[in-house]
Amino acid sequence: MIETKIRDLKNHEGREVLIRGWLFNKRSSGKIAFLQLRDGTGFVQGVAVKNELPEEVFELCKEISQESSIEVTGMVRSDERAPSGYEISVTNVKVVSPSDEYPITKKEHGIEFLMDLRHLWMRHPRQHAILTIRAGINRAIREFLDREGFILVEPPIITANSCEGTTNLFELDYFDQKAYLTQTGQLYNEAAALAFGKVYSFGPTFRAEKSKTRRHLNEFWMIEPEMAYFDHQDNMKLQERMIEYIVGTVLERHKTELKTLKRDTGRLEMVKAPFPRITYDDAVKMLKKNGLDFEWGDDFGAPDETYIAEQFDRPVFVEKFPSRIKAFYMEPDPENNELILGADLLAPEGYGEIIGGSQRIHDYDLLNKKIGEEGLPIEDYQWYLDLRRFGSVPHSGFGLGLERTVAWVCGIDHIRETIPFARTLNRITP
Ligand code: 4AD
Ligand code: MG
Repeated sequence: MIETKIRDLKNHEGREVLIRGWLFNKRSSGKIAFLQLRDGTGFVQGVAVKNELPEEVFELCKEISQESSIEVTGMVRSDERAPSGYEISVTNVKVVSPSDEYPITKKEHGIEFLMDLRHLWMRHPRQHAILTIRAGINRAIREFLDREGFILVEPPIITANSCEGTTNLFELDYFDQKAYLTQTGQLYNEAAALAFGKVYSFGPTFRAEKSKTRRHLNEFWMIEPEMAYFDHQDNMKLQERMIEYIVGTVLERHKTELKTLKRDTGRLEMVKAPFPRITYDDAVKMLKKNGLDFEWGDDFGAPDETYIAEQFDRPVFVEKFPSRIKAFYMEPDPENNELILGADLLAPEGYGEIIGGSQRIHDYDLLNKKIGEEGLPIEDYQWYLDLRRFGSVPHSGFGLGLERTVAWVCGIDHIRETIPFARTLNRITP
């Protein structure tokens, strides 16, 4: 007998196989039992027929409790109606460990109840599909950047100073000193870019934001490429190619999961580079024309981003924001130094900003001045200023929020389902 994974059933049609997994659900009548099996790689239905099985095996099939771990043997048959394309005609079942009464049932449960049971809820087909796509996106990003000649670097998680802004830092005691959980690896990536040319980091980042929106997490994962000798235009071109690759890869490799999520893939098919580019000025005009209450110089809120993105069929870059609403390190626009050479990439369908990126200031004096104006302790930034003293070059980079990207690609409502264990304003367990 061959042991197989549900994902690989297609290689075993007509043969008897062994599947080690769990009983996800069950329906039975007097003569037949339908066992919904899962094994981590997928879901498949096992059919146990009373008069084809020894009596004790059939009785066992009827009794097994939901989420018991079980080993099932059976014949693989193709079945067009099944999501996996196959069905198992059960020949034997062994219970590895019977499950206590399982709290998540077929009835509707509230979101807080499910989040409290996240350690179990992640077994559910929908959650399984989302987290599988997350892993797929993760892999696609690494593939893309590795092929483009990027080197992976790991910036520190514990930092002595703010990297992105002083308002949303998680503080901790580092022996006798104050320290913070990092908001971004960018400043360290800039150092690495001047050592390796093209680098990226991919790690957890932290924001002590007291927001409860469907797009905010307090701990999230960011992919941050940083490139030497790259200007603002080069930066956007890389971003759109990377997004096209991510979406194309998910469409190709994750058909089953997209189907489970009932994702409208037509919208994803349209995600092809080049993406439209509009300026902040244009975006403000667009909002005002539509009667939205917005003043030049304000930052976009979620409804503003949604409105702007709705005007396009694919992600859109909004470039050249006023410098006073963006981070201190962004290169000014030579045509108007109130503006910066950077862009946010807004995803369609109301998902909003998924990337923030910019060209970085490479002039020592200008950066020094900006750090001062920002009120940051200049001593802490000496190493960062050094990068402008020893062979400075124009360079650029960006940060892609993994969870927002997963939410968009999966077409789901809330970011909390895109990460195995979400950290939000009111939740640090499980
Ligand atoms: O725009 P942000 O703050 O940019 C930076 O941190 C830059 N230093 C990145 C860089 O240039 N290397 O964040 C980048 C992205 C956002 O576009 C968003 O997708 C995601 O990170 N993000 C969040 N995702 C979930 N929850 C939050 N609270 C997030 N804050 C930002
Ligand atoms: Mg941003």
